[in-house]
Amino acid sequence: MNIRKLNKDEKPPMKLLLLADPSKVIVEEYVNRGECFVAENQQQIIGVYVLLPTRPETVELINIAVADTQQGKGIGKQLLKDAIRTAKLSGYKTIEIGTGNSSIGQLFLYQKCGFRIIGVDIDFFVRHYPEEIFENGIHCRDMVRLSQDLLV
Ligand code: COA
Repeated sequence: MNIRKLNKDEKPPMKLLLLADPSKVIVEEYVNRGECFVAENQQQIIGVYVLLPTRPETVELINIAVADTQQGKGIGKQLLKDAIRTAKLSGYKTIEIGTGNSSIGQLFLYQKCGFRIIGVDIDFFVRHYPEEIFENGIHCRDMVRLSQDLLV
């Protein structure tokens, strides 16, 4: 598997990006502002992540997704580690990520890769998404914010 930056003339893998965020409008907006990276296997895109600079020295991992059929094989973890490495090499001091209160697997993965919970944006998903979101039998209402210092 090879992880690389998406070329300017390539279309972002929208189907994959929508796995991590149900709103096409929101995805298109942040993909235009951020940098998109893809994981490829035999010329097929099987994973994606997007880095978006938010404040000076801070970047947000705004979307990370692995194709349904490829999940649970360690690809998500490799993408997450690549995102941390890329952010560090680009000179950022902090990397942040946000996920739903119902995203149990993601909270597990992010904390295992060094992220710490720094806050909760109460009712974020209720305010920003017209449809109710349910995951693991839990109503997704709040955004759990996580962060990691990128030590040199
Ligand atoms: N509960 C507990 N642990 C879980 C889990 C769950 N539901 N899902 C994954 N994990 C663990 C794995 O066991 C593994 O831990 P280990 O290294 O100790 O064995 C670790 O998380 C990473 O698993 P990995 O196989 O690398 O994850 P993946 O390739 O399936 O990718 C996602 C993870 C989240 C990117 C993938 O599931 C996905 O694309 N989901 C849909 C999009 C999404 O929700 N994106 C995040 C938006 S915030």
